[in-house]
Amino acid sequence: MLFGGRSSEHAVSCVTAAGVLGAIDRTKYDAVPIGIAKNGQWVLAGEEIAGWSLALAVLPEVVAGKQSVSLAHLDGGHQLVVSEAGTVPQELGAVDVVFPLLHGPWGEDGTIQGLLELSDTRYVGAGVLASAIGMDKHFMKVVFEAAGLAVGPYVAVSDREWTVDPAAVKDRVAALGFPVFVKPARAGSSMGISKVDSLEGLDAAIAEAREHDLKLVIEAGIVGREIEIAVLEGRGSDAPRVSLPGEIAMLDGAHHAFYDFEAKYVQGGAVNLSCPAKMPEADIARVQEQAALAFDAVGAEGLSRVDFFYTEAGELIINEINTMPGFTPSSMYPQMWAASGLSYPDLIDELIQLALN
Ligand code: DAL
Ligand code: MG
Repeated sequence: MLFGGRSSEHAVSCVTAAGVLGAIDRTKYDAVPIGIAKNGQWVLAGEEIAGWSLALAVLPEVVAGKQSVSLAHLDGGHQLVVSEAGTVPQELGAVDVVFPLLHGPWGEDGTIQGLLELSDTRYVGAGVLASAIGMDKHFMKVVFEAAGLAVGPYVAVSDREWTVDPAAVKDRVAALGFPVFVKPARAGSSMGISKVDSLEGLDAAIAEAREHDLKLVIEAGIVGREIEIAVLEGRGSDAPRVSLPGEIAMLDGAHHAFYDFEAKYVQGGAVNLSCPAKMPEADIARVQEQAALAFDAVGAEGLSRVDFFYTEAGELIINEINTMPGFTPSSMYPQMWAASGLSYPDLIDELIQLALN
């Protein structure tokens, strides 16, 4: 199991890995946790997490923008930390399958998948191209549109476009209308994302997003409920399996402009995650069908969470796909499977079996 990693979602990955380590059937699997430090060093983590029968770990620390936030108050219990001073595994020995529990660039984006392909090692989840598409909020939209899915209005902004002619970029953004969401094209957990209500706020939001990625996606705000679906690859040549839809609802008084990093991980009780979402049967069927279509459109394997906006008019607009979604026992992906009849340990088992077969 690979966890941690070089991305800004390092800490989220540690929590994901702790969740999986706590639930994996150890009568069946011999799990070898390997942490990837933020500097890219690989560390055999076995010793450090001797007490890894934990169900949940705390986020050891999170770098949100430049600010380091301690989240030790989140839950009691153990930490799963990648210490950079650890030993590099010179001799890992044979492994049957790698579970890359990594979020964000250099983990969820095809890079680690490429390394595993090169070494002819089996692994859980999406391959190189699907991972890369799923990491890039621009290219995933291009693929979704080509597959006939409804995508909201957006502009993609390259480093060169912003550097050479910011006024032209602002004109394109203004044409979307406000509010807009300014996003790094390749990041996760809402890192670097801002909601901008007028042209005046655009420079600061763009500067913030560019700290995560020099390529940006700026999207028109969409008024709608946030609906997510968990997708699991079918066995053999079966079609992808889809969960019941879940819904993310910001709670009143949570003081978040949107489902941002704080609401996701820091402020307990800021959001209500519910599954199944209350929707007419026909719309449930429609969103499930579209989630499976999105999974196939990017060529995903193993697992993905597909996120939609569901408007008052009943329109479904795809927001994104995550090929390695948050995977702690309380994350949406496992929760939606639990509500659909597949428990967290069984889900882990199923993902490993899909990778092995
Ligand atoms: N990127 C985070 C982990 C998610 O999609 O859940
Ligand atoms: Mg994402």
